[in-house]
Amino acid sequence: MIARTNAYHGSTIAGVSLGGMKPMHKQGGPWLPGIEHIMQPYRFGEGLGEDPLAFAERAANALEERILQIGPEKVAAFIGEPVQGAGGVIIPPEGYWPRVEATCRKYGILLICDEVICGFGRLGRWFGFQHYGVKPDLVSMAKGLSSGYLPISAVGVASHIVETLREPGGMFVHGYTYSGHPTAAAVALKNIEIIERERLVERTADDTGPYFARALAGLARHPLIGEARSLGLLGAAEIVSRKGTNERFGGAEGKAGPIVRDLCIKNGLMVRAVRDTLVMSPPLVISHDEIDRLVAVLRRSLDEAEPVLRNIQAPAP
Ligand SMILES: Cc1ncc(COP(=O)(O)O)c(C=O)c1O
Repeated sequence: MIARTNAYHGSTIAGVSLGGMKPMHKQGGPWLPGIEHIMQPYRFGEGLGEDPLAFAERAANALEERILQIGPEKVAAFIGEPVQGAGGVIIPPEGYWPRVEATCRKYGILLICDEVICGFGRLGRWFGFQHYGVKPDLVSMAKGLSSGYLPISAVGVASHIVETLREPGGMFVHGYTYSGHPTAAAVALKNIEIIERERLVERTADDTGPYFARALAGLARHPLIGEARSLGLLGAAEIVSRKGTNERFGGAEGKAGPIVRDLCIKNGLMVRAVRDTLVMSPPLVISHDEIDRLVAVLRRSLDEAEPVLRNIQAPAP
């Protein structure tokens, strides 16, 4: 299996092994063998100043290079979140996903999209892969399926895989105590009905998503923000020590983020810091006024944090 640096696919042994979170890998093990990680399409962090198309090509080519290194016959699948969420809302540049898909098809490798964050409307389409115009063979889903009201998850499996599993006959001996739980399924169905009725996916695409993007573009003018980006209602703001660069306060990642996050929480906004990236995944029912408030609190918290951040010392060499 091939996955990516900074990917997040869960906290089980398989999930952590597929995920590319170094701090998680350091905390345990042994992890599953046979999993390789390639670069993430994180332009702000790893390709600042590079032409977006050239960066997309470089990041997508990493997949083909690794397949050829390992030997295509030994690679079963590539897994990726359409937009990496927990890794810092990493929105791949145009051209990345179609190239990844083409590479998978070229070598007969399954394409798995982890839609746990992107799925059910967050990017302004029901699924993230639809936004990028690719067709996965397997799709994992959870959060948005019930809007988080009850725990439920699912895997979408292409019929050619189902047929392969059926061919030998007999049973596919996998199951869970709560598989197909009727209460959770009823809640998920009702949730999807409400998303459809209230046209929340369309609203994210045509109204709140673009409004959120404009609000974040305003925030990007703040002296501490190196980049603010969003797709639908998934957004991020990068805290930097010097405008126009991706340099971090104290000369290392992860010092500024928690300081700004704590001020945001004190000022009434629940936000998450992934290293020095503030990541946001507001509810799909968010209003324009609430988006304005969200950005106003971010701005105020950054202003309050600035004198503290300017005093962070660089680590001793
Ligand atoms: C993309 C992605 N995949 C998988 C998971 C793991 O889901 P769970 O926490 O339900 O195991 C998450 C959780 O945040 C996620 O964001």
